Amino acid sequence: MAKLIELRNVYKIYSEGLESEVRALDGVSLEVERGEFVAVVGQSGSGKSTMMNVLGCLDIPTRGDYFLDGVDVRELSDKELSRIRNKQIGFIFQQYNLIQNLTVLENVELPLIYQGIDPIDRRELAMEALGRVGLADRAQHKPTQMSGGQQQ
Ligand SMILES: Nc1ncnc2c1ncn2[C@@H]1O[C@H](COP(=O)(O)OP(=O)(O)OP(=O)(O)O)[C@@H](O)[C@H]1O
Ligand SMILES: [Mg+2]
Repeated sequence: MAKLIELRNVYKIYSEGLESEVRALDGVSLEVERGEFVAVVGQSGSGKSTMMNVLGCLDIPTRGDYFLDGVDVRELSDKELSRIRNKQIGFIFQQYNLIQNLTVLENVELPLIYQGIDPIDRRELAMEALGRVGLADRAQHKPTQMSGGQQQ
């Protein structure tokens, strides 16, 4: 069976060729098996978020290969990448990316709208998810009324 995640010699270079070029990823290789728990630790600015953005299919490497469950992500269309981000990958952002004028519940419901789930089921699933993380009583609050950890 294919590795769940495989990075092969991946580079991410911001502003390549310019004087201000930043090599955020410099030949990174990584393999993650199904069920494996991996933590990546490093100094501020060492490229962790850049690597997560690649792994989460939010950004593409400048060079090198990324295979997700055996599939070369570079071969995927924007639509297929959207589907993977919506259904296959869970992602907690360093910056929360919540929509400030929606309630907590509406924020949690948002990806389910794109999955085409009907409003009643959507609400129920979102409430269940909030309940699992102890935030059911905050459903009608706005993101700014939550602590940093609660927002994440
Ligand atoms: N969009 C961008 N354009 C140019 N440089 C960038 C961009 N994003 C990140 N960088 C640079 O790439 C390097 C890696 O940044 P990254 O955000 O991946 O670090 P990090 O390990 O997540 O840091 P932290 O622990 O502070 O979150 C840094 O030098 C950063 O300044
Ligand atoms: Mg970071």
